Amino acid sequence: MTSPPQAAEPAIRTAEERDLDDVAAIERAVFNDPWSRRSFADLLDAAQVVFLVAVSDTAVLGYAVVLVASPESELANLAVARLVQGQGLGRRLLRAGIAAASERGCRQMFLEVRASNGAAIGLYQSAGFEALGRRRKYYARPEEDAVVMRANLSLASTGTAGRGVVGGR
Ligand SMILES: CC(C)(COP(=O)(O)OP(=O)(O)OC[C@H]1O[C@@H](n2cnc3c(N)ncnc32)[C@H](O)[C@@H]1OP(=O)(O)O)[C@@H](O)C(=O)NCCC(=O)NCCS
Repeated sequence: MTSPPQAAEPAIRTAEERDLDDVAAIERAVFNDPWSRRSFADLLDAAQVVFLVAVSDTAVLGYAVVLVASPESELANLAVARLVQGQGLGRRLLRAGIAAASERGCRQMFLEVRASNGAAIGLYQSAGFEALGRRRKYYARPEEDAVVMRANLSLASTGTAGRGVVGGR
């Protein structure tokens, strides 16, 4: 008896112009205060930006944006399409972003995340991020505090088996 064909695991690579429509569509679907397509386009050629996408054969499934100012970095955005959330893609994108920042000499990663975003905070904590404090009313639509988190990248796991560090928006 033959088993059904397995879908290939999404690949993670640097974002390109052809990805932008899919990225902007995911962004609008998962955030109340989405970045514009133009904002993502401006990141493509920026020297101090790591802009990664997770792709299947047919579409972009998620993305991560890391701002690099070695020895520090910031996870500026991370999102996974709703239909494929909870399958490990957010963790893979986070690890890839951390690995890229580490390769560029970064020793720390910072992020801000909505205080109510339990899924993202859970991911970040499991990857080694710790809460530093709050920025009051940092977000609009709806107004909400941001939790500021930091990870020491030298302690982060970027392998596929272990748990590593991550960042947020
Ligand atoms: C946050 C987000 C990127 C996580 O990506 P994902 O692919 O769904 O997450 P993963 O499957 O890789 O899960 C990684 C970890 O996240 C946490 N997590 C994910 N979904 C969760 C949920 N619904 N509730 C609680 N924790 C959750 C868990 O710690 C999980 O680890 P585990 O599976 O070992 O328990 C994704 O849910 C998303 O795009 N959300 C909307 C956009 C967003 O909030 N981005 C972050 C902005 S700071």
